[in-house]
Amino acid sequence: MVDPATPDLLALLGARGPRGLLPLHLPAHGRGRGLAPALRHLLSRSPGSWDLPELPQIGGPLLEEGAVAVSQRRCAALLGASHCWFGVNGASGLLQAALLALCPPGSQVLLPRNVHRSLLHGCVLAQVEPILFDLPFDPLSGLWLPPGPGDLEAVLAATAAAGLPKPAALVLVDPTYQGQRARLPELVTLAHRAGLPVLVDQAHGRGEALASGADLVVISLQKAGGGLAQAGALLARGERCDPAAIERALLWLQTSSPSALLLAATAAAITHGASAAGQRQRQRAEAIGHALRHRLLAQGFSLLAAADPLRLVLLTGPIGVSGLEADAWLMERGVIAELPEPGALTFCLGQVPPPRLVARLTRSLQAMRRALQQPPLPLFRRPPLPLVASPVLPLAQAWRATSVLVPLELAVGRVAAEPLCPYPPGIPLLCPGERIDRARAEWLLGQRLLWPGQIADTVRVVAD
Ligand SMILES: Cc1ncc(COP(=O)(O)O)c(C=O)c1O
Repeated sequence: MVDPATPDLLALLGARGPRGLLPLHLPAHGRGRGLAPALRHLLSRSPGSWDLPELPQIGGPLLEEGAVAVSQRRCAALLGASHCWFGVNGASGLLQAALLALCPPGSQVLLPRNVHRSLLHGCVLAQVEPILFDLPFDPLSGLWLPPGPGDLEAVLAATAAAGLPKPAALVLVDPTYQGQRARLPELVTLAHRAGLPVLVDQAHGRGEALASGADLVVISLQKAGGGLAQAGALLARGERCDPAAIERALLWLQTSSPSALLLAATAAAITHGASAAGQRQRQRAEAIGHALRHRLLAQGFSLLAAADPLRLVLLTGPIGVSGLEADAWLMERGVIAELPEPGALTFCLGQVPPPRLVARLTRSLQAMRRALQQPPLPLFRRPPLPLVASPVLPLAQAWRATSVLVPLELAVGRVAAEPLCPYPPGIPLLCPGERIDRARAEWLLGQRLLWPGQIADTVRVVAD
């Protein structure tokens, strides 16, 4: 039931927001402060003047001629890609198109356990089976860590040893939502040596994976740039993926009326990010990120060592609270974080961090600690997952099967018919088609307590 006091969308967006908020969430433009200048200029023009169809002069992401094609070529050159396609359905839609282009129906794809759910949806659309591989785990934060080269070697060896068919591609997530980075050049070299093209989900990055040799890279200009929500780009480099296959996949998935505003937002954000002014803006933001980090460490807070200074990840276990509790307490006081998780709370500082951020956030976190501090939480339990695993029932078949809801306690031995997926971060803890063994069921029961309200005490399983 919706609370009758909740305003409708137009009323909410049209209202003056509460004063004194400290918004530290995505989009990274921070409620307009960090919008790319060309986009800000466009939005200040007569309302609606920029909402144009695919007129011949404008064209579209799949057309050879027109302004969109010119912008895409310019952005490809700026980012070191051979091709660039703008998208208007976020990183999700572009990841799905990339998957469809790389993996023929009936093939397999290697996906890391920290994969965003959009790629599972992509597997359903592409009729592709995931081979899910486990990742290193950090018991202090409860987070998966990026794989190292040794981890990937073990995954490739285990895939072959399990008699699984050779996958059509490898997907990596880099950086992670929390800003952690893998040693991409080594990982990509290993994959290429094994004959696998590599798709990197850089929704939280800026296309740097291309320089590491990645074949396809997806970026989201609202997460690490001054673009609008849904603005994204798919970048290609090298010979391993046929541009015609990518364009065919984009055609299947894309609206036939892509918003000129969103396409322009992508162009503006990429162009600004690569400009001298954009780089200076980023350096200023990063300096604030470093100052904040030093101040909080000096105050005794534990922070995740993240490679991205604009992602601040507070480890909440050492102060005895879950990231979800800390988030609820801060939210009531106007501090809006991006990603609460059982052992961590991630703040996105944005392209232009809010005024007086260091002092304000330090004060709020000190107050939160005084109010909520308890003895440290126990370390988090590693998920009991095999190094590589394929669903026992094809993903799409399980997801569409006749299903029944059973309590998690009674799900042992059953096959999942839906993902268990707290959102954000949108990373499935269980995938359709996976058999729930006892260890997994017990771990999921533990997860339910760690994600209150986000994981039900029942799970939908395939009917007998
Ligand atoms: C790693 C990762 N990939 C892809 C996505 C999907 O991005 P979008 O919401 O722009 O479709 C997200 C969203 O949070 C994400 O965290």
